[in-house]
Amino acid sequence: MFEKIIPAPADPILGLTDQFKADTRDSKINLGVGVYKDESGNTPVLATVKKAETLLLEKETTKSYLSISGTVEYGLAVQKLLFGQNAELIAQKRAQTAQAPGGTGALRLGAEFIKRQLGDVNVWISNPTWANHLGIFAAVGLETKQYGYYNAETKSIDFDAMLTDLHQAEAGDVVLLHGCCHNPTGVDPDAAQWQQLADLCLEKSLLPMFDFAYQGFASGVEEDAAGLRAFASQCPELLVASSFSKNFGLYNERVGAFTLVANNAEQANAAFSQIKSIARVIYSNPPAHGSAVVTEILNDPTLRAEWEQEVADMRSRIKDMRELFVSTLKDNGVDTDFSFIERQNGMFSFSGLTKEQVNRLKDEFGVYIVGSGRFNVAGMTRSNIAPLCKAIASVL
Ligand code: LMR
Repeated sequence: MFEKIIPAPADPILGLTDQFKADTRDSKINLGVGVYKDESGNTPVLATVKKAETLLLEKETTKSYLSISGTVEYGLAVQKLLFGQNAELIAQKRAQTAQAPGGTGALRLGAEFIKRQLGDVNVWISNPTWANHLGIFAAVGLETKQYGYYNAETKSIDFDAMLTDLHQAEAGDVVLLHGCCHNPTGVDPDAAQWQQLADLCLEKSLLPMFDFAYQGFASGVEEDAAGLRAFASQCPELLVASSFSKNFGLYNERVGAFTLVANNAEQANAAFSQIKSIARVIYSNPPAHGSAVVTEILNDPTLRAEWEQEVADMRSRIKDMRELFVSTLKDNGVDTDFSFIERQNGMFSFSGLTKEQVNRLKDEFGVYIVGSGRFNVAGMTRSNIAPLCKAIASVL
């Protein structure tokens, strides 16, 4: 039976990691997948995660199942992180959160919910976007449409194109937004633009859905939620897919959350019961460890403050690498203006390198970046920056 099966194409991001692992060159550099590395090129377990794990080891009394949506404490901690400690919509019980297996699991729960409960609406996605977005919505049979987002000339947001395209959306359509640190461009709306987008969604009855995977990597944990909170303060309904892979460094624990906000508590409960039935037939109920770690850290004021400092340290190292990268390119005689890289947010830079240049970097120099020209700045270190910039100078 299997003889008819043709191989699927490799994943543009995780497939690249497989190629990197198989590369035997000592000089290879992985700037593909979005994983934070420290100055030594390691992806460490955060100190606060280690402390929380020690506490949990002491406290843990059972390995019995969690409920379908995970623990109530985790859900509440996630909501406070998203909407603010004293958010009115939390007190009004308009938000419901299900723990999900990573950000992808949360997006998939959202996609299934949209398809089953809201019907054949269009999902509007930025062009460009994270490589997995299109696949997640296609997997449930939803149509996706792309809205303009990035101006490759000015290396900034193409807000006019975004508004023009979103004006074509019909009532009930879903607009997928990146909460901060847009993947892959690193370019985010400013406060006034977020407000305009929220107004547009309200005026046209569009359903906003946030993919929020980098909270804390642009300006700060609270600051980065400003766009989402602008929507939450006026839109009656919205969806959020959170990931704690990056800001807690819990990549392989697959800790995410799907949050829905409804007009009132009763509607939130009804909609959430559908989320639970979706989760039940996909993975039944979530794993406990990662979410317990996140809950422990967010609910303990000392650990929470230490964690925010750890996120700030990661953010600041990435900013330093952006500056060093731009100056080292100049030192290597590159006269193209790469200063835009210093203005981008989060882990990624959208370099503008062509597919051919990306392939040459991999084949000739063992430098792995995503085919779109996106590279992970968090993978740069003071040791690999010189060979990296030399390689880029050669292919330019
Ligand atoms: C990325 O964009 O590199 C990360 O979000 C990892 C992934 O799953 O693609």
